Amino acid sequence: MADATTCDREARAILAKNDRGGYTVPTAGLYPYQWNWDSVFAALGFAEHDMDRAWSEIETLFRGQWPNGMVPHILFHQVDPGYFPGPDVWGGVGPIPSSGISQPPIAGTFVRWLLDRNPGAQPRARALFKPLMDWHRWFMTWRNEGGAIVVTHPWETGRDNCPDWDGPFAAIEPEGVEQYYRRDTTHVVEEERPRRYDYDRYLYLVKLGAESGWDEAYLKDTTPFRVADPTMTFTLLRSTRDLKVLAERFGEPVDELDRWIAEMEEGSERLWNAEAGTYDCYDIRAGKHTGVVSNASFLTWYAGVGGGRMLDQFDRIAGLTKYYVPSTDPAHPAYEPKRYWRGPVWAMMNMLIATGLGEAGHTDRAQALTENTRALISKNGFAEYFDPTNGAPAGGRDFTWTAAVWLAWASPNTGKTPWAA
Ligand code: GLC
Repeated sequence: MADATTCDREARAILAKNDRGGYTVPTAGLYPYQWNWDSVFAALGFAEHDMDRAWSEIETLFRGQWPNGMVPHILFHQVDPGYFPGPDVWGGVGPIPSSGISQPPIAGTFVRWLLDRNPGAQPRARALFKPLMDWHRWFMTWRNEGGAIVVTHPWETGRDNCPDWDGPFAAIEPEGVEQYYRRDTTHVVEEERPRRYDYDRYLYLVKLGAESGWDEAYLKDTTPFRVADPTMTFTLLRSTRDLKVLAERFGEPVDELDRWIAEMEEGSERLWNAEAGTYDCYDIRAGKHTGVVSNASFLTWYAGVGGGRMLDQFDRIAGLTKYYVPSTDPAHPAYEPKRYWRGPVWAMMNMLIATGLGEAGHTDRAQALTENTRALISKNGFAEYFDPTNGAPAGGRDFTWTAAVWLAWASPNTGKTPWAA
């Protein structure tokens, strides 16, 4: 186990190593571009020692915002043949070559946190306010099903291959996908990555979007994949609450924000699967819940909904593996402890979950999760994700968001507990 000061030093070195000047790559090789929510976590990591760099990370992300308000999940600043699918496959239509889908909107919340720590940067936060509103409006216009927020591609949720997609994917025949060569499995062993079956469907959905010129109105009616998701709904709801705080501070109107909050509070109920006793995904096309307790289910407190509804599930799952929160319930038949979002622990999800728990007054659980994640990282390093049974590092190494959440939250030296602020 490395001591905390050594970990702090390593974490800073990882951020520096993955810094491409104004933006950070998640890890060299496997993910050589700017990813949306990865960058926002990176900003919080930088904030611990370089505030200016923290702000510029988010500013660079918003430079890729599309005219319709969407902020892409990947910005391809400099083409790298080591990653597939690249800008030519996506055919993004924004100011910077990009993907055509978005990612969990945590930025509003993190901008508020940055400003709380760095009040002198109010002009920078203000300059981001309108772009943030435009992005939220895009979600509320195109991805709003009765206040539950839907995705048109699994990658949009950031939980690429979780078992929630198994049902919707079984209904998709990936016709017309040209032969392709995966690059991810040249960086990471196959059993820690999604299967070929899933990849065929990921690419099929990219093809449908690209062929439509990423026409949201058209996709809303036609795409076979339209699933309401807790990551999106809960992060957008949370971020909207934080945008409201910013709006009040900046003397901006709040009625639209109030409306969105009320809609999403109601929409969160659509994700409540009473039979399974959990928040989960809701497949709009099939008209049914997906029935999986995932780490996204535990973002309920972060969103400020649900009260104590998920506490029993949380305690049950926390007791099943040495390290938690596993991305899929270990009691679910699809659980695989090493395969990406089908089981492994993700440190940045833990930070969001602990934040929500702490804010909701469940401080013992928040503290215990913080300490569990601290032990996980200090024993196993800054991996992309970890096997919950023994903490074995998996996926990419020297990973930006794991380093960032160490510095911002898990480190006993530099970490902060956002809920205590
Ligand atoms: C994978 C993850 C996603 C992340 C990206 C870059 O696609 O599932 O959440 O943003 O890698 O790290």
